[in-house]
Formats: sequence, C-alpha cells, structure tokens
Amino acid sequence: MSQGLKQIHHIEFVVGNAKQASYFYRQGFGFDQVAYRGPETGCPDRVSYLLKQNDIGLILTTPLRHDDPLSTWLMLHGDGVRDIAFEVEDIEGVYDQAVSNGARSFCAPKTVSDGQGAIKMAAIHTYGETLHTFVQRDGYDGFLPGFEAAEIKGRSTGLQFVDHVVGNLPDRQMEKWVAWYDRTLGLSKFVSYDDKDISTEYTALRSTVVASKDRKIKFPLNEPAAGKKKSQIQEYIDANLTAGVQHLAFNTDNILETIKALRENGVDFLPVPEGYYDDVWERVGVVQEDKSKVKDLRILVDRDDAGYLLQLFTRPLQDRPTFFIEIIQRSGSDSFGKGNFKALFETIEQEQTLRGNL
Ligand code: FE2
Repeated sequence: MSQGLKQIHHIEFVVGNAKQASYFYRQGFGFDQVAYRGPETGCPDRVSYLLKQNDIGLILTTPLRHDDPLSTWLMLHGDGVRDIAFEVEDIEGVYDQAVSNGARSFCAPKTVSDGQGAIKMAAIHTYGETLHTFVQRDGYDGFLPGFEAAEIKGRSTGLQFVDHVVGNLPDRQMEKWVAWYDRTLGLSKFVSYDDKDISTEYTALRSTVVASKDRKIKFPLNEPAAGKKKSQIQEYIDANLTAGVQHLAFNTDNILETIKALRENGVDFLPVPEGYYDDVWERVGVVQEDKSKVKDLRILVDRDDAGYLLQLFTRPLQDRPTFFIEIIQRSGSDSFGKGNFKALFETIEQEQTLRGNL
C-alpha cells in the first residue's frame, strides 16, 4: 500500500473563456489571480489562469485551437471540472497502485521542469471525462512549471479549503465507483444515503461518500433513483452527457461573513423555501451564530450526532444545469446536511420545472 493521497492540490476547470471566468471567480468569490500560462509563457495552444484563496487552488483553462481535444470536451460538456488533482509524496507508488487495480492511465509519471525546478506528475481517468492528476512537489517553489506570476488581488470572502467534491454518476454506477475509489486510491466508504433519505414526493437520488482515512478528502458519489419524476442527477447527466463533477464545497470558518460578502458580490444562491425557518431551530437546537442573521442571509442549518453545520448552494454557475458551488461551515459535524435534503430538493424541482426538465 502506497503512502496515498496527501490532499487536494488543485481543481482544473475547462471553460470557454478563461479570461472572463477568472474575472468571475475573482469578483464573485474573492479569489486572487496569481499566475498565468499561455502563448506568452511558452504554451502556444492553451491558456490557464491560476486562482487561489487560502488553501483552494483553481486552474481555469481554455483551448485556443479547434482541434485540441479540450475543444471537443467543451463542446460535449460545457464549462466544468475536468481534473481533481492530488498532492502525493510517492507518485510511482500511488500511480502503480491505481493502475494495477484497474484505473485507466492518462499519463504515466514524468518529470516536468522550468527555471524554478522540477516536479513529477501523472494522471488517471476517473468517472466520465474527469481526471485525477498526481503532483509530487519535491520542494518545487512555484505552483506548477510553466506558470508565471500574474497577480490580481481579489477581495477574500473567507473561503478556506475544499471540503468535498461531489460526482454525479449515471444510474446503477455508484457501487462500481465506490469500489473503484477504494481499490485504486484507498478512499473508503464513509457514509451512504439511500433514496429514502434523499427523496421528495417526486424525485430521488442515492449517495455514498468515500473518504481518506484522515477525512481530508471526501468525495460523495451520487446516482439517480427512480421517482415519479426525473431525478436532478439525471438532469445533470443529460446536460453533461456523462458522469462529472456536480459541485465543489468550499469550507469557511465564518459563514455569516462569507455569505454576506458573496451576496454583495452578486453570487446567485438557490432560494430557501418559505417556512424553512419556522421549525429549523427545533430540529437543530443551540448554535453559536446569531439565528436572526442566519435567517436574514437565508443560510441552511443541520445537526447530526457529532455537531452541526451551516451550508448554502449556488445555482448552476453556467447555462447548462450542471456544476455549482456549496459554501459550508462545520461545527463538529462531519456529515453533509441530510436534514436539508428535502427542502433543498423541492427548490431544485421548482428550478427543474422552469427548465422543462422535470
Ligand atoms: Fe455538498
């Protein structure tokens, strides 16, 4: 068994216009732009912007040529997450364990260097057309070779790290991928929710969370379940044409300040149903935060045996009903807001209806 995955190193998006996407994530979510890679830095066919906020690293990449495979990727899926990259200490060990247990290789370990030094990189395919890149830094000073500093400061909204990354899978694929993550990357089953936990009168889904032993890496994996109407997971699969990343959850330690800032920046959140706050405190009990502020900012709350959490979800961030972002603050709780599933999904059903997809 290799040393395994240390943490998420970065998340790479493929987008139609990385220059504008960089502006969106800076102005909306408060990321700093820190580096750039493109024709001017010796990468003639693609441009990438690196954005950072505390421990979150996002790369926004746009292909410049029509015959780049990323142009096909974009045509099929629209803007979205293509790569969830991990930092590792033993890249050969991690890569060999994955591939010998059935992961499809995208790129065997290789050394990549520039004036600042060298790193090792490798990558495997996961669900849909999504990749996991491995990065072994070996004391490399910069972010990744080829990037040059291109700083534009954003106004931080207090986002700290990637709390979890959710994948949407086609029907009956969940168990297969849960086993795959265990075998290839040593992420084991942490908790699962069946369609009784996650359903409304009309729609349903199933979800299993795989996690690293230290729980730094948490990947919920969803699949649609049969209901009277179309599951939101099926709507995603129809729009994305295959499995893919449904949402990233960014952790904050002050969700009141974070949501206030994001709302001021114009970030578009899912509405919270009327009446949600009528009985929520009965269910959740004591919290540290000012309850009237939680309600004014329309933040969701949930409690489990270990503690409570506060969370809120954006609407899809592009025109296809695919990728969105969750903001989460945890106070002891290590779960995912099961008590909010019903309220949340009724809201999503209303939006599905407006899109003609229910
Ligand atoms: Fe989530």
